[in-house]
Amino acid sequence: MTDAAAPTAPVDVFAKVRGHEREEQLKMAREAGLLPYFHVQESAALPVVVMEGAERVQLGSNNYLGLTSDPRVVAAAHAAIDAYGTGLTGSRLLNGTIPPHLELEHEIAAWMGTEDAMVFTTGHQANVGTLGTILSPGDTVIADSGDHASILDGCLLSRANLRPFRHNRIGKLEQQLQRAANDGGGVLVVVDGVFSMEGDIAPLREISELCAKHGARLMVDEAHGAGVLGARGAGTAELLGVEDRVDLRMGTFSKSLASCGGFIAGASDVVDYLRISSRSFLFTASGVPAAVGAALAALRIVRSDEGPPLLRAVLDNARYLRDGLEALGYAVVQPQALPEGAPGGATDVVTPIVPVLVGDDWKAVLLWRALFDGGVFVNTALHPAVPPSGALLRTSVMATHTREHLDRALDVFGRVKREFEAEHGPLPGPGAHGA
Ligand SMILES: Cc1ncc(COP(=O)(O)O)c(C=O)c1O
Repeated sequence: MTDAAAPTAPVDVFAKVRGHEREEQLKMAREAGLLPYFHVQESAALPVVVMEGAERVQLGSNNYLGLTSDPRVVAAAHAAIDAYGTGLTGSRLLNGTIPPHLELEHEIAAWMGTEDAMVFTTGHQANVGTLGTILSPGDTVIADSGDHASILDGCLLSRANLRPFRHNRIGKLEQQLQRAANDGGGVLVVVDGVFSMEGDIAPLREISELCAKHGARLMVDEAHGAGVLGARGAGTAELLGVEDRVDLRMGTFSKSLASCGGFIAGASDVVDYLRISSRSFLFTASGVPAAVGAALAALRIVRSDEGPPLLRAVLDNARYLRDGLEALGYAVVQPQALPEGAPGGATDVVTPIVPVLVGDDWKAVLLWRALFDGGVFVNTALHPAVPPSGALLRTSVMATHTREHLDRALDVFGRVKREFEAEHGPLPGPGAHGA
């Protein structure tokens, strides 16, 4: 009941939840059984999973090294629960730090080759808590338009001047660096190492050179690069030989490291500052023992002699799936050329994210459904997650997919394409990506 005399809000703050732009579309998709989101996985995160009562080849996870069910990782999570319980009920600052947090920070710093590292409860919080703290309102942050949402959230939270540049356009980055020099504050460039939807990598050599030339600091989000790229699996910066030119390296445990949590690695004075000032670190409960124990065990596997074969396996699988999809006539990305003299002598790379361009949103969900019914799960990215008419099916592989799993998925992709095109007309073909 409102008091007639009291000033009242002109609109109900909940009004936006009714009749919004996407409501009708969502309703139609749900009624037609075409909603590609919120499907329930009823088994462990393996290369083949049970979803809604049937087996599906899992081409929609970020479990790149397949370590979520590795017996050593599972045992480490159990051991951490036995030793420290199910939760810590407090911030890292107060009662939420246990020895595995410190061991993990120490090992991440050694892995990244940085002076220090700190562990956050999620990767999202690592980005928000780093960018929102290290940037101030007078500073400028220059971000790639394809950067992850958590990077944008951190930039907005900081209230620094935000100067975006078009995805991977080095010329546009340089323009923004020139403009930023007159903004009057410090300048930070922040990019994904591997972009989460397209799977392409940032040209970190050129980016780091430009940062040095214009006196800007560089932060790289290695969520999809760490545990995947480089001889040590230390990410895109390692692959491209620019580790010493990246000031801050962010990563997550929710992909190759088979757990949940995030980190930032860099110089000890910067990390120490974040430890006492980062609000998403200080004002939230610390990562639970099972999550930290699992991430530590997974990291130890990556850094052991078993790491390199696992990294090779996931990259080989990515190339096999990409080539297979292209041979079937799908629009997939081309292998990305590496600069001359990249460590290890590789000339190009296919990351574990292999997007299939569809274009039209409805075609993408129809194709998703046909694949799902055929026994393959993939992720669907529709506008606004991708540009208009840029709908794509995001496939991703694990080191533990066998050729049999991938062939099974490719068979389904082949059959579905023939049936789909007979009914709905042609899908974009090879070469359409990036056109
Ligand atoms: C590029 C990128 N950065 C950050 C994150 C956030 O990581 P987390 O899942 O640990 O919150 C993700 C995960 O979705 C990501 O893809």
